[in-house]
Formats: sequence, C-alpha cells, structure tokens
Amino acid sequence: MRYTPEFEQVVRAWSKARQKEKRFKHTERVVQTAAQLAEIWSPDEVMVCRLAGWIHDAAKDLPDSDLLHLAREAGIEIREPEVDTPMLLHGAVGYVLASAEFGFEDDRIRTACTYHTTGSPDMSLTDKIVYLADLIEPGRDFPSVGEIRHLAFQVDLDQAMLFSVVHTVRYLMQHEKPIDPRMIELYNVLLKAGVRLLG
Ligand SMILES: [Fe+2]
Ligand SMILES: [Fe+2]
Repeated sequence: MRYTPEFEQVVRAWSKARQKEKRFKHTERVVQTAAQLAEIWSPDEVMVCRLAGWIHDAAKDLPDSDLLHLAREAGIEIREPEVDTPMLLHGAVGYVLASAEFGFEDDRIRTACTYHTTGSPDMSLTDKIVYLADLIEPGRDFPSVGEIRHLAFQVDLDQAMLFSVVHTVRYLMQHEKPIDPRMIELYNVLLKAGVRLLG
C-alpha cells in the first residue's frame, strides 16, 4: 500500500483525538525523530516510520481492562509479562485500533508498534527506528540519552540498540523491576550478530 500525505494527516488527527495533550506532544516528537532516522538509514520507509509513530501510543491512555479485552479480541498472544503489566500491550493494541479504523494491514507498522516498548529479537530496520525514536525524541532526558542519540544518528542503529538495551536492563535491575524476556532475547541476538559498543 502506498500512503499519501493526506492519509497521514487523517491518521495524525485520529491519534491526536485519542491521546492526552502531553502524550500527543511526545508522539509528534517521535514522528519527527523517526522520520529523521529513516532519512538516514532507511529512506524508502520514511512514511511507514511516520505512520507507526502516529499510531505507537494511540492506545496508551486506555485502562488495563480495555487493553486486555482488545488484545484478546484481536487474537494477540498475551504473554506473562503482559498479564502482569497490561500496559505493555498498548503498542499492539494501538495498531489493532488503527488498522480497524482505516482498513489497512501492514506488518511493518504492526511490528514497529508492537515492539516499541520492549524490543524483540526479530526487529526490522523500521522497528528499530521507531523504538529508538520513542527513546531519544528531544523531550527525553535521562543520563545516557545523549550517547544513544549520537549512536543512532551518527554511528549505527544496532549499536544504538545495544547501548539502549544495556542501559534499560541496568536501570530495571537497579530498580528491581521485571525485565521482559523479549528485551533479553534482543540483547543476545545483537551480541550474536557481532554488535559491540565502541570504546
Ligand atoms: Fe509507548
Ligand atoms: Fe511513546
């Protein structure tokens, strides 16, 4: 499917109507950052990355019960981490809502939305761009964000992924929070592919 700028505007308006103002500002910055990263690493997918950006948090303001219900209805596999923390389903459910609303199916947008929170061992370039854009959009402020931005824009997407996963896992451990197995699998896959952090 070829997406037009007019279609993007319709998706943007739908996304805006579904999010609190502060979250929508974040969404706008994710779209902008995803587009910038796509221009560098995947120019053919700029529009797909922008659309995934508009959709990625569209279900985040739904209550847990709705997330679980909509995921079940759509036949999405609900893993143990998602039973414990239904919020983890917001990306997958956002895609389900958008695809029902606009009558399209696109695995590129589906996986980018589904994996933007936890990562996954089988991420596409588009998935990585949306994951990183969510993490490093200009409103984000945490100790290693500058390094991740540098890696993502100037060095290599996989190095940015590895660096961000290492830091996220470290943060989760330090705060004794659960780690989604998908993130650990992603870490292992990146290492196995030979990705290493410079310096
Ligand atoms: Fe999100
Ligand atoms: Fe987000």
